[in-house]
Amino acid sequence: MTIDLGHHGDTEVGAGLVDLAVNVRREPMPPWLSGPLRASLDDLAAYPDATGATAAVAARHGRDPGEVLLTAGAAQAFVLLAQALRDARRPVVVHPQFTEPEAALRNAGHSVERVLLREEDGFRLDAALVPADADLVFVGNPTNPTSVLHPAGEIAALARPGRVLVVDEAFADTTYRSGVPGEPESLAGRRDLPGLVVLRSLTKTWGLAGLRIGYLLGPADLLPRLAAAQPLWAVSTPALAAATACASPVAVAAEREIAARLAVERDHLVRRLRHVPNLTVAGDPASAFVAVRFPGADKTRVELRERGYAVRRGDTFPGLGPDWLRVAVRDTATTDAFIEVLTALLEERP
Ligand SMILES: Cc1ncc(COP(=O)(O)O)c(C=O)c1O
Repeated sequence: MTIDLGHHGDTEVGAGLVDLAVNVRREPMPPWLSGPLRASLDDLAAYPDATGATAAVAARHGRDPGEVLLTAGAAQAFVLLAQALRDARRPVVVHPQFTEPEAALRNAGHSVERVLLREEDGFRLDAALVPADADLVFVGNPTNPTSVLHPAGEIAALARPGRVLVVDEAFADTTYRSGVPGEPESLAGRRDLPGLVVLRSLTKTWGLAGLRIGYLLGPADLLPRLAAAQPLWAVSTPALAAATACASPVAVAAEREIAARLAVERDHLVRRLRHVPNLTVAGDPASAFVAVRFPGADKTRVELRERGYAVRRGDTFPGLGPDWLRVAVRDTATTDAFIEVLTALLEERP
């Protein structure tokens, strides 16, 4: 079966359905974000100038502005990498993970090799699985859809001269470990690893999927190649305003609070899921979603829709299959109601 790499959770939601399919947080926008966004509308006659936002993002991650490229969402960063690095001889994508890196590579004409992490290993990264001569490697951390957070050291072990190592940290801000002040396994601030490119998204936690804003952090000698593949003025003035606001200390502190709350809600979801008969939770979930496996999950997904719940199908992720679903972490009341419906459906099975 050919897998539809272009399938995404947004096509699973619909009128009247509780959305457990899309991993975008939907909360009222804080004033420190909505204010600059609204104010930016007064400047729309001018072409965008990314200088200030680039400096703000660089400061947030302790990098030089020359190591930052703002993009129209992390999705655009995949395309820039795939297009600009057409000379890569052996591109490898570590799966299961977000499907756009592979889709962008294929669209650019690359033939892509997959490294499949295994459920038996908790979908944990084993750097030894990646071929030594792979010169372009994509890995997600934390990984969508498994929610597994790989140790920074295991990912760092993949970096080497002659290789571009792309770490998709679109959900890094959702990770939380008690007693750890920042993002426990992020490599965003690392400048010592050769060829390391870290992708970040601002569309998830800040509910900006429609605005399209993200960025990549990487070596100053690589970024001009990626920038050259980008359309002129690719990031709009409102998106730049959002990037500046979301790089502020207030925003970073808010992200940590959101991650701490999310951890409580995630623990609740995982606890409840672990009591559903015949259902297995993948790995040790660390992000805003959880992957689950049970026989006939593909059929149950359709039945869940009939009962008002949209969840993300798992069969379009290489390395998963029809027995998998991805469920978003929501507030505990929503989780409880969902678990009741799911349990009832599974009990009704002949
Ligand atoms: C793991 C991962 N990376 C990147 C993206 C793309 O995010 P953006 O909205 O910033 O393009 C997504 C979106 O779903 C994602 O799940």
